[in-house]
Amino acid sequence: MADTTPKTQDAEPEIRKGLAGVYADYTAISKVNAETNSLLYRGYPVQELAATCSFEQVAYLLWHGELPTDEQLAELTAVERSFRSLDPEIKQIIDVLPTSAHPMDVLRTAVSAIGALDPGADDSSIEANLAKSVQLFAQIPAVVAYDQRRRHGLDIIEPNDELSYAENFLYITFGEVPDPVVVEAFNVSLILYAEHSFNASTFTARVITSTLSDLYSAVVGGIGALKGPLHGGANEAVMHLFDEIGSADRAADWLAGALAEKRKIMGFGHRVYKNGDSRVPTMKASLDTLVEYYGRPDLAELYDALETAMTSGKNIKPNLDYPSGPAYHLIGFDTATFTPLFVAARITGWTAHIMEQLAANSLIRPLSAYNGVDERHLAE
Ligand code: COA
Repeated sequence: MADTTPKTQDAEPEIRKGLAGVYADYTAISKVNAETNSLLYRGYPVQELAATCSFEQVAYLLWHGELPTDEQLAELTAVERSFRSLDPEIKQIIDVLPTSAHPMDVLRTAVSAIGALDPGADDSSIEANLAKSVQLFAQIPAVVAYDQRRRHGLDIIEPNDELSYAENFLYITFGEVPDPVVVEAFNVSLILYAEHSFNASTFTARVITSTLSDLYSAVVGGIGALKGPLHGGANEAVMHLFDEIGSADRAADWLAGALAEKRKIMGFGHRVYKNGDSRVPTMKASLDTLVEYYGRPDLAELYDALETAMTSGKNIKPNLDYPSGPAYHLIGFDTATFTPLFVAARITGWTAHIMEQLAANSLIRPLSAYNGVDERHLAE
């Protein structure tokens, strides 16, 4: 039994701001190793998974600990495809929201509504939580696509059960399945975004789960945490930076000015990786194929120019949001949908962590060191 007695309020406690460097618990889901610049999902290097697996296979791996057999994959695929359509109530709730609402706010609201409409929301058995995880996995693309299309005044496209997860996601967003090179780049991005140990949104989901709240509530909390630009919102912010800079020849001067103003450059830096993000080379390779496919060398030049200026000036390396932002832009997603795409991927990691937390739960409740005014009393 852990000693949970507060040590003392008098001695100066050790405060690790942002919980930097603190181990909060064990996890068997993924291993982020900053020293070797590697990321393992259930023991497999993420690069190997991205090169050979579908996102559905990786989702299964994260939830169950092993890659699926053909039969297990067929079963997951069948269930996922059966859940792809949105209920009319969810469409109505989205329609009530203004098209000016941020897609992360729309998605957060939709997931909350999906939970409120589920009569089994409070059943936290492993079977029920797995079923809910697959349902959210299947329906988040429908919410993202529905919202992007309604913002453009386009007809809603119903899912196609013949298509893979990545193909269907692109089909319901754009009305056609793009060439395999595009589908593959999208699939790779989803795998790379799927899981990353105790990042802020996953930890948020685990904190909520630790109170024995339901899976939907934990996911809604995760979405809220992911929205911030220091976390998932960075992929959207990268595209705004690119718009602001305009072209490669302006990158170095722009960066000097931005750093002089003490601005944080979105898409660079990481709390754990201090010498480069293990996922970047794989996503950059996918971005390169998209740049070639769409004939946009100008975008690649701007990407390289800002990276060179940032690494030579501050020696701060890009994180996954840096290549994924422009990749999603080239595929045709609205900039504001980039972070919802991150949600679509990370729902797999979040739900795996929610189930892991529940399996060996302990309420997450740290201490705080009081530094307010001394005790005082109301006048008699
Ligand atoms: N742009 C400019 N400076 C940065 C930077 C960035 N993106 N990332 C880190 N730094 C600088 C900080 O200003 C700080 O400098 P200082 O010591 O002179 O004050 C130093 O590097 C350490 O940064 P700090 O913010 O304390 O590190 P952290 O571990 O708390 O932050 C992030 C990690 C991700 C929050 C931070 O790198 C960041 O804000 N990046 C941009 C947002 C982003 O891309 N988020 C997605 C993460 S996957």
